[in-house]
Amino acid sequence: MVQTEPVLEVNGLKVQANTPDGIVSLVRGINFEMHAGKVLGLVGESGSGKTVTSLALLRLLDRKRILVEGSIRLMGTELTGLKLSTMQSVRGKDIGLIMQNPMNAFSPVATIGSQFVETIRTHARMTRNEAAELAIAAMEDVRLPNAAELMRRYPFQLSGGMLQRVMIAICMCLKPAVIIADEPTTALDAANQLQVLRQLDRLRENNGTAVLLISHDLSVIAELADDVIVMQRGQIVERSDVYQLFDHPQHAYTKQLLQARPTLKAREPESLKEYARA
Ligand SMILES: Nc1ncnc2c1ncn2[C@@H]1O[C@H](COP(=O)(O)OP(=O)(O)O)[C@@H](O)[C@H]1O
Ligand SMILES: [Mg+2]
Repeated sequence: MVQTEPVLEVNGLKVQANTPDGIVSLVRGINFEMHAGKVLGLVGESGSGKTVTSLALLRLLDRKRILVEGSIRLMGTELTGLKLSTMQSVRGKDIGLIMQNPMNAFSPVATIGSQFVETIRTHARMTRNEAAELAIAAMEDVRLPNAAELMRRYPFQLSGGMLQRVMIAICMCLKPAVIIADEPTTALDAANQLQVLRQLDRLRENNGTAVLLISHDLSVIAELADDVIVMQRGQIVERSDVYQLFDHPQHAYTKQLLQARPTLKAREPESLKEYARA
């Protein structure tokens, strides 16, 4: 089989923070590749450096205190040297971010509709009305009820699961080549978790998006990921395809992770798949 060019290539990514106690290494030289239409799972216990990695990719870490080194190539273009203004246009348009706490992604003082429309218009030449029509269609597409009405609501009036789906709808409009979903379902109840995973997967399928799915929850990874990297204390300690990882974990830490997963037995991956198809 011909291996396609990676959409995102990360080489020797290091993140160090300047703290009152001195310099602390948060990410210690990691390498990975992402491919179109594929989901790369990133697992690891809390504090292992998953979020710092995703923020480093988007250059969202505080530049005064945090040093990022290494190469991040998006479709052949090196991102690390780009001007901040260019990087701002990469965010959202080329690399979309879906965060754990969707409330943080929105301003509390503007309506969903105005934020959605502004986001579209930052990246695409469109009138307000055109952008609003696109937004409503995308919200309907992710099965948000009364989309036109939701446009007039404020973020606090929507549930976490609904806001998460609004973020997915924004990604549907901007069609970034890469989506980073950092614990996208962690703050949601079980029914909403499945809805959001299902919409994320549909987005990947329709647009050929490369997805970095970050989770401490192995049942989420089992559900969607093709390949998995396992992180521990800022390093990648194991990488393999998802079946291999679950059937034959190599690293002692991965075995531990697999043993410490009470939710997986309660919710078999097969039944999640069934639900997602329904
Ligand atoms: N801005 C920061 N400055 C210093 N240390 C940080 C900062 N952000 C995160 N950390 C530390 O980096 C480590 C990795 O954090 P994080 O990437 O959030 O973990 P994960 O997402 O895997 O739970 C943790 O020890 C955390 O305390
Ligand atoms: Mg995190």
